[in-house]
Amino acid sequence: MFARRSSPPPALSSSDPLQPVGTGVELRGVTKRFGQTDAVASADLTVPAHSRLGIVGPSGCGKSTLLSMICGLIDPDAGTVDVLGAADAPGRLARCAWMPQRDLLLPWRGVLANARIPLENQGLSRREASRRVQPLLDRFGLAEFADHRPAQLSGGLRQRVSFLRTVAADKPVLLLDEPFGALDSITRADLQDWLRAMLADEPRTVVLVTHDVEEALLLCDRVVVMSARPGRVVASVDVPPYAGTGAAARRARLADPDFVALRDTVLAHLESAR
Ligand SMILES: Nc1ncnc2c1ncn2[C@@H]1O[C@H](COP(=O)(O)OP(=O)(O)OP(=O)(O)O)[C@@H](O)[C@H]1O
Ligand SMILES: [Mg+2]
Repeated sequence: MFARRSSPPPALSSSDPLQPVGTGVELRGVTKRFGQTDAVASADLTVPAHSRLGIVGPSGCGKSTLLSMICGLIDPDAGTVDVLGAADAPGRLARCAWMPQRDLLLPWRGVLANARIPLENQGLSRREASRRVQPLLDRFGLAEFADHRPAQLSGGLRQRVSFLRTVAADKPVLLLDEPFGALDSITRADLQDWLRAMLADEPRTVVLVTHDVEEALLLCDRVVVMSARPGRVVASVDVPPYAGTGAAARRARLADPDFVALRDTVLAHLESAR
């Protein structure tokens, strides 16, 4: 349905200080309270560099709060967060591309101008940033909307722009909060497939929050289930890798009895986590 990606985002050089070192993302005893609300309670998580962790859990259990703490937008009340060797908030922020649950597109900028913001922030000229973003606009079916403002777009289109902006930032850690929730099922499958292929080409450390258990199991190599608030990790399942991309490989995976059993296991954990 979309044009094939014509060129990959630029790779980080091996001397880049943001390259993964040792453990990717590590949370130890992380706790966060908002007023009277205990959002996250003593969470421990390890996401090895270049691995993909899926987080599922009941609404309000603190998943988005966890992502905000990983990328340094908010600080935990207790515990430590380490991202590729950086424990301070600016260091964590420099290593993470965060796709928030609600898109934070700037209303006065068009699609292209929104998508290139992270590259402009990294010091690229508007022209160079646009040149790098353009192939992704084509690939994600957004080229015809390049000059549209967010208010002129459907929710699904805005979500695609937000996803594009996150991957175009070209950071070693991707934090994705319900990245495909507003998309129709065909577009969602296409972008999931694109993400799998992209990560196979250029591995990154990924934390994916989703309400869609199948999505978590298709994209991640480990899925954890969080309890109702205050969120704690109550179950963790390892997901065996699968080969191939495209609709046929996806259908085969979804029908695989081992996959179905894994999905049922996660759903059962979710049921008891409520
Ligand atoms: N900035 C904030 N101020 C006050 N309370 C907050 C704030 N952010 C989150 N909370 C509260 O913390 C709890 C966890 O919120 P969070 O958004 O992390 O949940 P979630 O698991 O992402 O939920 P959902 O699945 O609905 O997106 C909720 O009770 C929420 O109301
Ligand atoms: Mg959330």
